[in-house]
Amino acid sequence: ADFAIGLHDFSAATGQYVLTHETLAAENGADVAKYHKGIGQRSMSVPAVDEDIVTMAAAAAAPVVARHGADQIRTVLFATESSIDQAKAAGIYVHSLLGLPAGARVVELKQACYSGTAALQFALGLVHRDRSEQVLVIASDVSKYERGTPGEATQGAAAVAMLVSAEPALMRIENPSGMFTADIMDFWRPNYRTTALVDGQESISAYLQAVEGAWKDYTERGGRSLDEFTAFCYHQPFTKMAYKAHRHLLDHCGYDVDDGEITRAIGQTTGYNAVIGNSYTASVYLALASLLDNADDLTDRTVGFLSYGSGSVAEFFAGTVVPGYRSHLRTDMHRAAIDRRQEIDYAKYREIHDHSFPVDGGNHAVPRETTGPYRLAGLAGHKRLYEQL
Ligand code: CAA
Repeated sequence: ADFAIGLHDFSAATGQYVLTHETLAAENGADVAKYHKGIGQRSMSVPAVDEDIVTMAAAAAAPVVARHGADQIRTVLFATESSIDQAKAAGIYVHSLLGLPAGARVVELKQACYSGTAALQFALGLVHRDRSEQVLVIASDVSKYERGTPGEATQGAAAVAMLVSAEPALMRIENPSGMFTADIMDFWRPNYRTTALVDGQESISAYLQAVEGAWKDYTERGGRSLDEFTAFCYHQPFTKMAYKAHRHLLDHCGYDVDDGEITRAIGQTTGYNAVIGNSYTASVYLALASLLDNADDLTDRTVGFLSYGSGSVAEFFAGTVVPGYRSHLRTDMHRAAIDRRQEIDYAKYREIHDHSFPVDGGNHAVPRETTGPYRLAGLAGHKRLYEQL
């Protein structure tokens, strides 16, 4: 195309509650330094019983629709791996809650933590076909492992909403992409389970292999060299993983690995993920939010993205920050979403974690807990009933 395509607006939301790693460590006897230093996590977002991927997604997307209107939105792509229905797309509930036009297509995408990037790339293609159209890309997830497992410390929850358009106000997304797919069982969730299964150490080496593979494909397709990037947004199942991945990439490319250099490239991307936890599909874009909201002027700077989804698919691509981007950021809103969370003790977390109503098929009114703009009000006749507050 002879016009730029990319991120025109960006907004993030998270859950009502927060569980700190001090509280988790006090409960399970771990040294809290393992969490703070070893995996680079301080706390995790926990949705209230009346929150889920839909309510967080609607909370993230509402300000985007309020700012730009809905008339140009012809497609809603909802990426998630913590789906609430095996058939109906979660995006249709969001479409309804936000009053989007009937003349739109809505679909849900899945490939573990990667599918937000698939959605973004598909959105670029749609705008390339017709530059008057906008695509609302949503990535929303609640990360849940069994209590008492090593994965428990890496749970979290968040949603991001990204408006993709021609001549974007925030970031141009570039060609080429580097892709990598390998059939591997490092992390998965069979249909009959509400918590994920994971082979922890295997998942880390699978991630690193995928970084190599995606980078190789990127360079073979004529991508930029490593020196051209100001920062790198990695998928962050825990923030230390971004450091591991970048170290691996530099090493693989034959660079002398310098801790200061890695910190310069990664440091400003981890702030939100360190306090929110793993938000699966949203995580790599929360890294971007953290960078844009907290770094000094990034105008005309190029940012690398490495999106990884277990199973596995990875993609490396580049985006360049557009002049004037700062006046379009939602920094105060993002900080408020983090700061407004109420801290909970382990007993409250356990009650929410082990709550069984979504899978028992019964009719329930859901207690009102969230102070956010949307809530799951109840379940009746196997249907989820949402309301705007
Ligand atoms: N002080 C400082 N550091 C400490 C410490 C202490 N007291 N105790 C341990 N550490 C360090 C360890 O050395 C280790 O760091 P390195 O890997 O750099 O050596 C780190 O803390 C973690 O310790 P362990 O490896 O012993 O921890 P663990 O085995 O209990 O759990 C985990 C780690 C496997 C990542 C686990 O959290 C897990 O299973 N997480 C879920 C899976 C996951 O996130 N995988 C990531 C790649 S897959 C992916 O990215 C997709 C996705 O979203 C799931």
